[in-house]
Amino acid sequence: MSIAVIIPAGGSGERLGANIPKALVQLGGRTLIELAVAAMSPIADQIIVAAPTGYEEEFRSLLGTEVIVVTGGITRTESVKAALTQLSRDTSFVLVHDAARPLASTDLARRVLKELQAGADAVIPGLKVADTIKRVNIDGFVTKTPNRTKLRAIQTPQGFTFETLITAHKSKSDATDDAGLVEELDIPVKVILGEDRALKITTPDDFQRAHRFLLGEDVKEFRVGIGTDAHAFSADPARALHLAGLEWPGEVGVDGHSDGDVAAHAICDALLSAAQCGDLGSNFGTSRPEYAGASGDQLLQESRKIVEAAGYHITNVSVQIVGNRPKIGPRRQAAIDALSHSLGGVPVSVSATTTDGLGFTGEGKGLSAIATALITRK
Ligand code: CTP
Ligand code: MG
Repeated sequence: MSIAVIIPAGGSGERLGANIPKALVQLGGRTLIELAVAAMSPIADQIIVAAPTGYEEEFRSLLGTEVIVVTGGITRTESVKAALTQLSRDTSFVLVHDAARPLASTDLARRVLKELQAGADAVIPGLKVADTIKRVNIDGFVTKTPNRTKLRAIQTPQGFTFETLITAHKSKSDATDDAGLVEELDIPVKVILGEDRALKITTPDDFQRAHRFLLGEDVKEFRVGIGTDAHAFSADPARALHLAGLEWPGEVGVDGHSDGDVAAHAICDALLSAAQCGDLGSNFGTSRPEYAGASGDQLLQESRKIVEAAGYHITNVSVQIVGNRPKIGPRRQAAIDALSHSLGGVPVSVSATTTDGLGFTGEGKGLSAIATALITRK
């Protein structure tokens, strides 16, 4: 009971208007053909892809040796015919699936297969249509309005018994789907419930819709922010150094009216900038004397509250400390833990660099930090 999947991907994608064949366009970092193959491979013993002429090698290197790549034809029907020649002789069922529907799920393929295994000769997924659909003549006049409740918008993968598909393709006709050829043979074609995510990518608008599916049903709104801070080392050797939420025994601290934690301050500014909530000065400056001498921990906690009150939650923050000393590496994890704790446990990255003797940090006169923050609308 061997199962084959044929993926016609030989089109040029004229209506999408990319400069490359549609199946090679990327969606969320992977090409449409890779996505289609990945969705079908869990149920397939054999996968045959019809590539546009001249792109066969590119397809082979993308898809690996498990997938058979053939040269597609002038029409979709011709491309499927070319793939049929490669079907292994022990094939029982064949699913034909358009590369132009890269988000169709493995589950949909399984449901199509289930109907074939239960005895159907041809099974196709379809969705009810929302629009009223009319038949028109060549002059643009309506000739018929079919009853909408009886209409279905048909998708792929479409499943057939080996015999049915081979016989259907002996026909000289061209059809936009394989079921169309099967219908000509008067073989019953069973329609099962399709899925929204099996949408067909034809135009740039379809591409945007597919993107929204990838991001999840509720489209997330991301924002990034940036912040920097710098302080000079104190002339007072007894001043304690506070950096990245930690005290650094044996290290001389920096001057400033707060605890001078440049890493914490840069992160606060990054968070506030991401949420468009001003900066440290505008939120905790001289007009708020209660924050004079505030610790980095306290400012991080307050900044988090402001960002959350603005409707966001923090996805991650990253800070880089610039200076000759202290050595961050040995206490990096402790710094990450302290900063993350102040922010309610969000992922924090801490890195450090020197500046090759250049600038005030390179001359050992002080410390600076630069931070970025990513926040997501709740
Ligand atoms: N297809 C194919 N061989 C062709 C034409 C189309 O294998 N000669 C494939 C496409 O690659 C696609 C599917 O059939 O996966 C559905 O076709 P369509 O969405 O029309 O894609 P394109 O023909 O590439 O797009 P366009 O019509 O806009 O050029
Ligand atoms: Mg086409």
